[in-house]
Amino acid sequence: MKRIAVLTSGGDCSGMNAAVRAIVRAGLAANIEVIGIQKGFQGLIDRHYELLSTKSVSNVLQRGGTFLQSARCKEMREPSGQRLAAENLIGMGVEGLIVLGGDGSLTGALALAQQGTAVIGIPASIDNDIPFTDMALGVDTALNNIVRAVDNIKDTASSHDRAFFVETMGRNCGYLAVVSAIACGAEYSLIPEEPYDLDDICQELRRRYQQGRSNSIIMVAEGAGNAQQIAEEIKDRIGFETRTIVLGHYQRGGSPTVFDRLLAARFGQAAVENLLAGEKGKMLGLKNSKMQLTPLADVINSGIRPIDELLPRLINDLMI
Ligand code: F6P
Repeated sequence: MKRIAVLTSGGDCSGMNAAVRAIVRAGLAANIEVIGIQKGFQGLIDRHYELLSTKSVSNVLQRGGTFLQSARCKEMREPSGQRLAAENLIGMGVEGLIVLGGDGSLTGALALAQQGTAVIGIPASIDNDIPFTDMALGVDTALNNIVRAVDNIKDTASSHDRAFFVETMGRNCGYLAVVSAIACGAEYSLIPEEPYDLDDICQELRRRYQQGRSNSIIMVAEGAGNAQQIAEEIKDRIGFETRTIVLGHYQRGGSPTVFDRLLAARFGQAAVENLLAGEKGKMLGLKNSKMQLTPLADVINSGIRPIDELLPRLINDLMI
């Protein structure tokens, strides 16, 4: 193998730059060229790419986002777009491709694998909804962003006897809401994976108010409902005044945590090593602290990564 390519696709996340850096440096160490494709699969279709040197990736490790930029690409959902992308790779002299992204991006990677491209996927999405990996890249940084925000919110909430409804991202997955609720000592996390009863929640929040608690925090995963509407619906029934905050894209940016930097380095290097060893059509994952490969088809056909059922119970047990 003489030349490989890397692209970052879908929603950006912290750690993508660190992973691209690891891929470039591991590639150069093995005497292969690495080209960076701009704006994900769109750049592959439009042939926007550059040869990356060790200098192109210096000073990027600590930066959030992706210097290669990212995009969600409609053409890549069509067989004609997938064919063009695979042909362009051949035209660029690329013998192996590394795709960083979430489920949509890994679906694109699978489509290319089916066109004959040697491709390795790296799970990179704050949602942590990708199966066959304990953690995706960017999740830990997003959680730390959420925790920092909620710690600040608690200061002001407790100064005014308020209940805050904090909406987190995650699409149809409640992982960010559940784990941040445990880490912040929140009273509830409303997630799409589990039904919730607003009457029970109101009763419990009122009991806490009457006990003289100074604040309540309710994490709401975006897939479980609209935090503003939920807060509006129950505001007169809980004693506390309510306020809502939608954390939005604040969660996705910022310098990656040590966990994400380490994961990026391991994913990046393992992706290059595995491509050189002839592996293809697979996604890397972190399983029990080890790198593991899973066929992309299994990843895509397995649905959303389930949340450990003990985690929601932990919030409940600790909120008394
Ligand atoms: O998949 C990552 C994610 O941040 C989701 O949590 C969120 O629903 C979505 O992307 C937001 O997408 P966009 O950046 O296109 O608004």
